[in-house]
This record gives sequence, C-alpha cells and structure tokens, in this order.
Amino acid sequence: MSTTFTLDTGTSRAHPVPEPVRRLTVPGIAKRKGGEPVVMLTAYTARMAQLLDKHCDMLLVGDSLGQVIYGLDTTVKVTLEMMIAHGAAVVRGSYHSVVVVDMPFGSYEASPQQAFENAARVMKETGAAGVKLEGGTAMAETINFLSRRGIPVVAHVGLTPQAVNALGGYGARGRSAEEAATILADAEAVAAAGAFALVVEGVVEPLARRITETVKCPTIGIGASAACDGQVLVVDDMLGMFERVPRFVERFDDLAVRIDTAAATFAAAVRERRFPTEKQLYL
Ligand code: KIV
Repeated sequence: MSTTFTLDTGTSRAHPVPEPVRRLTVPGIAKRKGGEPVVMLTAYTARMAQLLDKHCDMLLVGDSLGQVIYGLDTTVKVTLEMMIAHGAAVVRGSYHSVVVVDMPFGSYEASPQQAFENAARVMKETGAAGVKLEGGTAMAETINFLSRRGIPVVAHVGLTPQAVNALGGYGARGRSAEEAATILADAEAVAAAGAFALVVEGVVEPLARRITETVKCPTIGIGASAACDGQVLVVDDMLGMFERVPRFVERFDDLAVRIDTAAATFAAAVRERRFPTEKQLYL
C-alpha cells in the first residue's frame, strides 16, 4: 500500500492517505477462522491509528484507554463519551482496518435495549464497524439482539477487566476444571449468539486452544494461546511505554526510554541555549 499526503489547510498538517483506500470488512474478518491470523492492536488517537493502520486488520479502541490515556486505576470509570471521542479519532486516522470500539462498563449490561441505544450512538458518532463487550452467557441475549439489528459485536471472555471487582484481580482464569468449563460455555454462548469474533483474554493455554477449536468465529488471543485465530496487544505495552511488563506482553520497542532521552536532550539544549538555532527561526 503506497502512501500519499494531503494538506489540511486549517492545521497545515499533512495527513497520510494510503492508496488504494480499501477498508477490510466485518464479514471478511469473520471468514478468517482457521486462516491468515488476524492482527489487532489497540489505538486511541488519530495519529497512532495512522501509524498502525496498514499493519493491522483490526484496530480496537479499547477501554484500556482508561489506564493508558487517562491514568485511571481500572476500566470501570471509563465513560461512553470517552469511548466515542477516541473512537471517532481512530476512525478518522484509519483507512484499512476494521475499527471496533469497546462498550464501557455500565453502558450495556442492564438490558439488550440499553446496549442497543448506546451501541447505536457509538456507531453513529464514531463511524466504527462494530463494538466489543465483555461477558459470556449472561451477555448472549444482548449480543444476539445487537447483531440481528446491524451492530456487529466482538465478544470478550476469560479475564474480563471490567469485572475486576468481582474477580478480585487480573490473574489468569480457567485453572480449575470448573472455571475452565464455565469459560468454555461462555465462549460457546457468545459465538452462538452471533459474535463475529471473540477476544479470549488471560486464560490458561489449553483452554484458549480448546475454545479456538470449538467456536466458529475467529478467536483473538491476549495472554491466551498461539493457536488463537489472531492476537491483540495494548499498543502502549507493545511499544514499551510502561515499566511493568505483564507475562503476556512482548515489548517490540522501548519507547519510554527513547522519549526520556529525547526530553532530556531537549531540556539540556534549551538550558544551554543551543535550541533554537538559526534553522528554526524566521529570519
Ligand atoms: O480494552 C482493551 O484494550 C481490551 C484488549 C486488552 C483486548 O479489551
């Protein structure tokens, strides 16, 4: 995919426009079961979406933005307004990937009707192709309700961070036979309800493999299994923006260190009056 640039005369910034501009589709992702792995990263801003877009099949505007962007302690405090603002930015910055926006805690659990009203707002106000929501069997009716009414849904089972208060932490799930059976039943229920893809997070590997073999939609793993039909990571984790590296994360760069070095170099240049130079001045 080649890239051309258009100039936004309002901001004088160059926006990359990849040619040909052809976005992947929800049915296209659904067909990837057992085929080419689905590449998904989270994105929260237009610029990051521009950078990630051509490498990904799906961009997830995850409610992890609560911690990553807003410094919140959990995703429980994330609002629909935050998700809509960041979802719209990611759609504006992308041309190729299927963009999915997380439904935040409290915006969908009460009833299928509540979920439809809020998910429809997300779709209208962001332009995203679908929504993601957490939960298993209890959410199956809602997933069916949404997907039969034109709202494609990615389901999310296993470790579901919005339930951190009920789960008591972020430890891997499915270690006991009983818990593994419940999570497998959750996966089967949401897939049968019409989810077009299923995020499987933080479960023991054999369970993630079993879920992938069992359900008809593609599974997208995070802390799950290499056997999943795709993989997702929080982009800031993948870029090395945080000191804490959970077991399931691979850092593909060390951006925090590089930003620290750049900021220190800038600060020294300012303090020593080496910046700006003539090159940056209007003479
Ligand atoms: O919110 C998020 O970023 C997510 C991914 C970790 C799957 O749900």
